[in-house]
Amino acid sequence: MLNNSDSRPIGVFDSGLGGISVVREIGRLLPNENIIYIGDNLNNPYGTKSKDEILRITLDVVDRLIKMNVKAVVIACNTATSAAVRILREKYNVPIVGMEPAIKPAVMENKGGTIGVMATISTLKEKKFQNNMDKFKDISNIYKIPTQELVELVENDIFSGDEINRVLDKHFYEYRDIKFDAIVLGCTHFIFLKDSISDYFKGIKIYDGNEGTVNRLKNLLMRDDILNYSNQMGKLEIIFTRENDKFKRRAIDLMK
Ligand code: DGL
Repeated sequence: MLNNSDSRPIGVFDSGLGGISVVREIGRLLPNENIIYIGDNLNNPYGTKSKDEILRITLDVVDRLIKMNVKAVVIACNTATSAAVRILREKYNVPIVGMEPAIKPAVMENKGGTIGVMATISTLKEKKFQNNMDKFKDISNIYKIPTQELVELVENDIFSGDEINRVLDKHFYEYRDIKFDAIVLGCTHFIFLKDSISDYFKGIKIYDGNEGTVNRLKNLLMRDDILNYSNQMGKLEIIFTRENDKFKRRAIDLMK
């Protein structure tokens, strides 16, 4: 039975372009939902900041979304999720969905294998990540590989080529004798580098958490009976906190 139809938008945010990969996934799995996206590129990168700083910035962005009457918030950023999700859930009474590096599926499909998790410096330092990793440490060998510079490359419109390979060479240098069975992309910016990373690792299986996050969002909207049952395609409003016009154009290109 269809109950209420709730056309209020879903608020999604990240430190820049990365979260657009999550918006794209929401568009695929929940095409009727309206979305407001905030790309907080004025504060990019989040991944080199302290937990307190990330929390302060994140609270500002979520306050802004709540004032725009969103019915749910998606933290389309692993870094902001690990630093702030608990406090955000305490403070606001709309459903809040976060991102988590997809370690579980990578481990379950590669039992006994070697898995590299690429994420920002801050995500990999957080206790939340360590706890997640500890759950699986007896099943697979998991390595943390901070590849923060890739965030900057994506923000600068670089998705393939020598610069990407150079950053990967640098960060995987100490693991050069290890044969990875799978790589987890623990940062939403890296989703746009999936092809380059896959080429670099010669077709290795790559995991990300975007589909899992959007499925979780869908379940929460169903649970609270706040899905939008309109038969129209949802509207998307995009706001960047720096160079809005330029980044909006790039975001739209990335969704194609
Ligand atoms: N896209 C972000 C993430 O998923 C953060 C990138 C950054 O600002 O450092 O972690």
